Amino acid sequence: MGKKRTPSPYTARTADKYELYQISVQSPEPDIAFLRRVYKQARARPAHHFREDFCGTALLTSEWIRGCKSCTAEGFDIDPEPLGWGRKHNLGPLGNASSRATLHEADVREPSQQPPDVRCAQNFSYWIFTQRSELLDYFHGVRADLAEEGLFVLDIHGGPECMEELEEETEHEEGFSYIWDQSEFSPVTHATKCYIHFRFPDGTEMKNAFRYNWRLWSLPELRDVLTDAGFDRIDVYWEGTAEDGESGNGIYRKTRLGENDTSWVSYIVALK
Ligand SMILES: C[S@@+](CC[C@H](N)C(=O)[O-])C[C@H]1O[C@@H](n2cnc3c(N)ncnc32)[C@H](O)[C@@H]1O
Repeated sequence: MGKKRTPSPYTARTADKYELYQISVQSPEPDIAFLRRVYKQARARPAHHFREDFCGTALLTSEWIRGCKSCTAEGFDIDPEPLGWGRKHNLGPLGNASSRATLHEADVREPSQQPPDVRCAQNFSYWIFTQRSELLDYFHGVRADLAEEGLFVLDIHGGPECMEELEEETEHEEGFSYIWDQSEFSPVTHATKCYIHFRFPDGTEMKNAFRYNWRLWSLPELRDVLTDAGFDRIDVYWEGTAEDGESGNGIYRKTRLGENDTSWVSYIVALK
């Protein structure tokens, strides 16, 4: 007899979109381990102060604080809703340690309270800057705001699949499906419209839980803009391949050329 499946606790009416988002797209432990590793390799000492741009629910900020007793952090987001959620669900459980984190309801172009050793912009959120001049202005500000030996880390998604209009469904064992919907793409402007939907075993759906109007930037374009913003060195980290020969193994190493995969996520590390 087959194993009985526990019924899913989720339906569109009761599920919390931030909880589902975090389960679906965030990996705070490996992300923070990566950021600490690249700083230590570059500067031969541990990083102390962290800044998370477009922090949403501040999951990375919380992990930074949780993993180091003396470390401090700042998160920036313009939307009070995810910030409030993050204060309650991510920072709250850390107790007194949470006083080492400050969340700012502010634009990412605002300066930090304290110059960060590591500053990051994750999940392609900086793609809201669709004009080169805007992106350059943001990168200029980031560089000026970093600590003396600071570094700035961005993730980037690429490969020919990024330019396709498609829906990709991932079933999560927690009892729901995550749908990444690349709804529109212009080959002329690289403007792209994407959505996240969630579907549940009872047949209900949380449609357009998150919406993005972005420009799909290419890796060489970003390197050029970072160079123009005055960064000294720009390293690209590429994900290794798992034993199945297809999926990523979550281990990122410095690369000069990368691999021509149909869909990839990579990190750009820009040193001041
Ligand atoms: C894709 S979510 C990123 C959430 C989380 N950091 C992550 O890595 O998954 C983008 C976030 O950027 C915020 N945002 C958009 N424009 C912004 C701006 N100019 N300044 C600060 N936050 C901004 C939105 O409110 C949203 O929470």
